[in-house]
Amino acid sequence: MDYESQGYNEVPIGRAYSLQNAGGLVFVCTKGADGRYDLAPVAWCCPLDYDPVSMFIAVLDTSHKTWADILAGGVFALAFPGSDQKELVERCGSVSGFSVDKYESFSIPSMPGEALDLRIPEGVAGWVECSLVKTIVQGTSGVVFGKALAARAREEWWKERLHYVGDSVYFKPGDRV
Ligand SMILES: Cc1cc2nc3c(=O)[nH]c(=O)nc-3n(C[C@H](O)[C@H](O)[C@H](O)COP(=O)(O)O)c2cc1C
Repeated sequence: MDYESQGYNEVPIGRAYSLQNAGGLVFVCTKGADGRYDLAPVAWCCPLDYDPVSMFIAVLDTSHKTWADILAGGVFALAFPGSDQKELVERCGSVSGFSVDKYESFSIPSMPGEALDLRIPEGVAGWVECSLVKTIVQGTSGVVFGKALAARAREEWWKERLHYVGDSVYFKPGDRV
């Protein structure tokens, strides 16, 4: 079959994930055993269930501080950056909380969590606070399963959210169809 003539270019198998990666980005927000708050952008995050409560999974590299914090504290929040927060996303994704206190070093204004002792960066489109229900480790990828305890969002949160494809390609969703 001549797929090229139909407009389908070959996608290297190592990049195939990006075809399904064009989703809303999250900040995983945590508090460590050291008492420090941390946050890291994570693109690999999706809903898992909604009945009786919403549940989510997120994939974190097991070398990350946010992973260690979640194991230690048993909680995390998913905060949804707006399309005007790309710079903050890149900053928080460029360094580990093991090396710096990101909230302090980057002067990130934040709000307290509603249900949990976490810091939510100001300006996000919304957030969900979760308790950890399970983890799975596959190689260096750690999957956290979270159960929603509290959630808040702006009226048109879905219009505001920053989306990420990979290779530094970000986008803002277009109009509702
Ligand atoms: C746009 C973007 C998306 C990212 N997505 C993920 C992801 O899905 N999973 C992950 O483990 N790391 C992801 N990262 C990398 C982490 O955010 C980065 O390594 C961060 O510094 C980890 O911080 P921590 O050690 O404080 O947890 C992403 C980074 C960026 C900029």
